[in-house]
Amino acid sequence: MFKKDFPYFQNSKTVYLDNGATTQKPKSVIDSQVEYYETYCANTHRSNFGHANKATQEFEKTRVLLKEFINASKNEEIIFTKGVTESLNFIASSFAKDFKTVIISSLEHHSNITPWHMQGRSLGNGLEVVSCNDNLDFDLEHFEELLKANPNAFVSITHVSNAFGKIHDIKTIAKLAHEYGAIIMIDGAQSLAHFKVDVQDLDVDFFAISGHKTFAPTGVGAIYVKEKYLKDVKAYQTGGATIQEVDYNHSTLLDSPYKFEAGTQNIAGVIGFGKALEYLNYVKYENIESIEKNVFKFLDEELAKLPGIVFYNDTKDCIGSRSFNFEGIVHDDIGILIDKMNVAVRVGHHCAQPIMKKLGIRGTIRVSVAFYNDYVDVDKLIEALKKALSMLKD
Ligand SMILES: Cc1ncc(COP(=O)(O)O)c(C=O)c1O
Repeated sequence: MFKKDFPYFQNSKTVYLDNGATTQKPKSVIDSQVEYYETYCANTHRSNFGHANKATQEFEKTRVLLKEFINASKNEEIIFTKGVTESLNFIASSFAKDFKTVIISSLEHHSNITPWHMQGRSLGNGLEVVSCNDNLDFDLEHFEELLKANPNAFVSITHVSNAFGKIHDIKTIAKLAHEYGAIIMIDGAQSLAHFKVDVQDLDVDFFAISGHKTFAPTGVGAIYVKEKYLKDVKAYQTGGATIQEVDYNHSTLLDSPYKFEAGTQNIAGVIGFGKALEYLNYVKYENIESIEKNVFKFLDEELAKLPGIVFYNDTKDCIGSRSFNFEGIVHDDIGILIDKMNVAVRVGHHCAQPIMKKLGIRGTIRVSVAFYNDYVDVDKLIEALKKALSMLKD
């Protein structure tokens, strides 16, 4: 129903089911890039001529839109970054590095694991991992034990697992974390495309956002920082547009968000991000959720009929991504074969090697949907999988 808004689907026959990796972009987002570069290309927050002012206004408009979109309380709480990877690295290195203990979940993407390793942390040595059960559910009891044993920890947890689609109950997790004096950051890479996020209702302290996984251009994202922590977060890079005053001995930085946004920003990307948010406001989450619920259910039922399929979790508390393998078949082979049939899915470890190792597998076939996917896409996927299976079994 919404495919008509996305030029990709007019230009390509590909059945696109790799939305966990990146989403397609609506026409309004694409047009905004051309419009910026063709009609008012100028730097922001510096020069004072007409186009520079317009670029700054459009850029700042996205900040206000995003603040409202996630129900932050102040514009200053929204800091633009390149995406979730930069957001997590920024907070890890500038705010969380001196915490004695960092607690993560078993389902983290590498971008919420490697920044902690870079600080010299390893399991039991400044880094703790909350276990999950055989259905990949977050073990709240274990989490509480870890919080008790490590008071005032820094908790960094993914909202939705990119590899298996598991949703973590962040409201409950954040409440428990705060009860034990911990501070909590959420990796929101896989949530905003699927459901409403309200950072005040979740009561999280940091929330990392990826633009390109939310229908915006690549290379743009944000980190929400709860107002009370803004003064404690140190800028991890400084330079142009971050300063109040500089001489050869010292420099004074501006207030948030500008002190954190050093150098020329991805101006077109941020403007496009605003258009993506406006588009999502037009589509409405209630429609997104109802479409995805039906398509995801159909996908799961149709996949379950395929011979030899192995799932790693049920679909309760699951959104976006469905991961599986076929007994005796290498997942990469399926990826190669169905690509030839114009079906795009991701095969591999999905940047989540630790959980793959825990499951004793190298990776999975991951089908990840967005609200523009429909039953026809699922039918084509299933047809392609059946053909690939028959070729591989011969
Ligand atoms: C759960 C999760 N976290 C982090 C990332 C990295 O996000 P970005 O591409 O915005 O840096 C991804 C991307 O796949 C992801 O799925």
